[in-house]
Amino acid sequence: ETEEFLETFQARIDREEKIEPNDPMPEGYRRTLVRQIGQHAHSEIVGMLPEGNWITRAPSLRRKIALLAKVQDEGGHGLYLYSAAETLGVSREQMTEELLSGKAKYSSIFNYPTPTWADIGAIGWLVDGAAIMNQIPLCRCSFGPYARAMIRVCKEESFHQRQGYEIMMTLARGSDEQKQMAQDALNRWWWPSLMMFGPSDTDSTNSDQSMKWKIKRFSNDELRQKFITATVPQAEYLGLSIPDPDLKWNEETKLYDHGEIDWAEFKAVVSGNGQMNRDRLRARNKAWDDGAWVREAALAHAGKCANRQPT
Ligand code: ACO
Repeated sequence: ETEEFLETFQARIDREEKIEPNDPMPEGYRRTLVRQIGQHAHSEIVGMLPEGNWITRAPSLRRKIALLAKVQDEGGHGLYLYSAAETLGVSREQMTEELLSGKAKYSSIFNYPTPTWADIGAIGWLVDGAAIMNQIPLCRCSFGPYARAMIRVCKEESFHQRQGYEIMMTLARGSDEQKQMAQDALNRWWWPSLMMFGPSDTDSTNSDQSMKWKIKRFSNDELRQKFITATVPQAEYLGLSIPDPDLKWNEETKLYDHGEIDWAEFKAVVSGNGQMNRDRLRARNKAWDDGAWVREAALAHAGKCANRQPT
């Protein structure tokens, strides 16, 4: 790649032009997008598992309908994102293989268990809330297919966040026991939600280049702080307390400063040693194996259609 090619490409980015799949692009740009979009797609697919765990046990028909719709949306987001990655020349089979073998990364957040119904509320409120904070800027990502996919994804994420917050509101206004359930779930999900934004800026290996290419518009720490600042008043409204004694309003930045994140825990989860990593991969592998007959039948049917004699 010549200096001139890289400069011409950067000039397009700086003019805020969208890059489309067949446009010339540096190999590093393509690789970064395949990596990020692939990881994002896997996160959506694995993200169906912690909540799927509660579909059969939702406390009412209304809650069950909303949860089913949300989990289905996540499956849809995964498919959307795999398609966006495929425009960059990687195949869906290859990405799936990397997920199932444990080679590909997916978001740390989905490696935590959901022991109570309140966890479903906390996931919608915090995890989807964090996802929105991270994904709204991706609607302006320089790569066209990813940016366009994010618009619809963010609309759906906003419904997910609201259904979660409403569950928390119901619990927080319920009996003492229900309120305690909500607080316990907040305690479980708060720190893992902050870790979703990725390592601190000093340790984020990809950020500088991704910001230059306008794949990312804000740094990991910037988004994390914005999320905290948006979420603290929501916790106050619920009458719940955020499990961080060092959380403090910063008059200068107009953002909340937070306590130290347990990066050792983050690293353990990302490298496959979180509480649920093995279960998640086992569940995905089982779903893939159990679905083999559907793939075979679809291929056989496609073959029959292709061989059919015109009448
Ligand atoms: N969980 C697992 N891995 C992570 C996480 C996380 N929460 N955060 C960062 N990492 C990984 C990165 O993928 C990268 O790994 P790699 O270089 O081996 O591929 C490494 O840690 C270093 O991090 P960064 O340099 O900061 O990586 P990046 O610039 O890609 O930023 C981020 C990470 C913010 C997650 C970015 O990839 C992103 O915005 N992705 C799209 C959103 C997304 O995937 N969301 C998933 C959860 S939301 C949902 O599904 C509902």
